[in-house]
Amino acid sequence: MIDTHCHVFKEYYDNIEEIINKVDVVIISGTNDKDNQEVINLCNKYPNVYGTLGIHPTEEISINSLKFIEENLSNKKIVGIGEIGLDYYWNKNKEEQIDKFIKQLDLALKYNKPVVIHSREATNDTYEILKNYPSLKKDIHCFSGSLEMAKNYIKINSYLGIGGVLTFKNSKLKEVIKEIDLKYLLLETDSPFLTPEPYRGKQNEPYNIIYVANKIAEVKNISLDDVLKQTSLNAKDLFDIIW
Ligand code: NI
Repeated sequence: MIDTHCHVFKEYYDNIEEIINKVDVVIISGTNDKDNQEVINLCNKYPNVYGTLGIHPTEEISINSLKFIEENLSNKKIVGIGEIGLDYYWNKNKEEQIDKFIKQLDLALKYNKPVVIHSREATNDTYEILKNYPSLKKDIHCFSGSLEMAKNYIKINSYLGIGGVLTFKNSKLKEVIKEIDLKYLLLETDSPFLTPEPYRGKQNEPYNIIYVANKIAEVKNISLDDVLKQTSLNAKDLFDIIW
């Protein structure tokens, strides 16, 4: 079991060791300077923790932020850049966000690292920008768009990160997932956020990918084991994880 996207930081949890050991591997994503430092610390401390470094569209970026990310890309446990992207819901300054996004995509291209993408109410701009980076491998984190959008993303070298939203009662994502080959899907929790049913409303943790995996198995009418096996292969392939 690999949770490909979470924010398991001290500010949210006092039992980090316990929760990360309930799964095989966790990939912790930074969103700002402070998180990025903690990602490095956690990667160094725990064998089953991998990380990505990035500045989220709603967070401050400086020359030093980019320098820190770049300097740490040689760390074998830093497996990508993210989470980065566009968020027109929380941040109305589009130009500033696009600039920040492109700077980090360019960095990923320079070092040939996969990117973890956050996109909220910014689908068209996100897609138009990512189209310019066809060779970059992408994790469309918390994907919840249409079937057409899913196919478009897959065409430009993306995997779709599927989390708790899939388990929500009125989620339209189920119909989309039914039509998408398992080889493009990743399991994620986005812990501590977006807790799947039946624990919606409580704090999320990496182990809860099991509920997401179960829902995928149900929707696609395949076994849970097949879902866990294939999504783990996908994660290892995308992030180049040896485990
Ligand atoms: Ni996230």
